[in-house]
Amino acid sequence: MRQHETALVTGASSGLGLAFARLLARKKYNIVVVARREDKLNELKEELERNGISVYVCPVDLSIPDAALKIQSFTQSQGLNIDVLINNAGFGDSGSFADSDWKKQYSMVQVNIAALMQLTYCYLPQMIERGSGEILNLSSVAAFCAGPQMSVYYASKAFVRSFSEAVSEEVKGTGVTVTAFCPGPTATGFEAAADMGSHSRMFQKAASAEDVAKAGLKAMRQRKVLCYPGAFTKTMSFFSRLLPRRVTRRFAKKMNVV
Ligand SMILES: NC(=O)c1ccc[n+]([C@@H]2O[C@H](COP(=O)([O-])OP(=O)(O)OC[C@H]3O[C@@H](n4cnc5c(N)ncnc54)[C@H](OP(=O)(O)O)[C@@H]3O)[C@@H](O)[C@H]2O)c1
Repeated sequence: MRQHETALVTGASSGLGLAFARLLARKKYNIVVVARREDKLNELKEELERNGISVYVCPVDLSIPDAALKIQSFTQSQGLNIDVLINNAGFGDSGSFADSDWKKQYSMVQVNIAALMQLTYCYLPQMIERGSGEILNLSSVAAFCAGPQMSVYYASKAFVRSFSEAVSEEVKGTGVTVTAFCPGPTATGFEAAADMGSHSRMFQKAASAEDVAKAGLKAMRQRKVLCYPGAFTKTMSFFSRLLPRRVTRRFAKKMNVV
């Protein structure tokens, strides 16, 4: 990776986004950090700028329609080209759809799908024009099957995987890459945000955010279209192709019951 290019990381205030930002700072990227919690982003700016880079704090609620345009205006006002886009912000929700909070489901679609898609739309044409750029979109092991008790979340991650895979094919030969990154359970703020409690079966052997983020950046650097880091995710990916969907969705239901 070249020195002092600029990366934009959404969801940088916690978990995987925080780990991505720290790793990119060590590689001397300037970084635009996006999330709602401005205090966390300011703390992160102070920490990361010790690496001799510039960090730009962009507090935005991605659940608001057209939030991505605010981010684009911000980066334009700072005169920044985005060389690496990490569409990481996202969250889930535990429980049956019929009993769920509509606003949370709707926000999930906005953050996990619409904002990711719109940020890609905002920055991809300039990357193509410059003949270089990398986009890493956070999908999940949840993309492999339907996910009873987390239905909207699993569906959102299936969207991310399919969308990223398709666009990666469209941009072939332009110098731009799009990677769908599909991690398994990782120790972050995810469980709490999804109201899963702290003892869900899924998270008993969660990987560390730093290890997972490293695997994501490696996949992006290797220009991979799809990446399933870790043994659990690789096994799930393999069996999801072999087993009937009625079996995989029942398995997912078992894992998702908290
Ligand atoms: N942890 C896992 O097991 C796992 C596995 C596979 C994939 N993933 C994916 O990894 C990504 C990162 O999640 P994580 O595990 O690191 O969870 P996390 O620790 O809860 O971090 C989620 C990040 O998203 C941001 N975010 C949430 N809602 C937002 C909104 N409305 N506007 C702006 N930012 C928002 C949060 O920032 P604020 O709260 O400050 O806004 C936070 O920085 C997600 O896309 C998740 O689906 C996670």
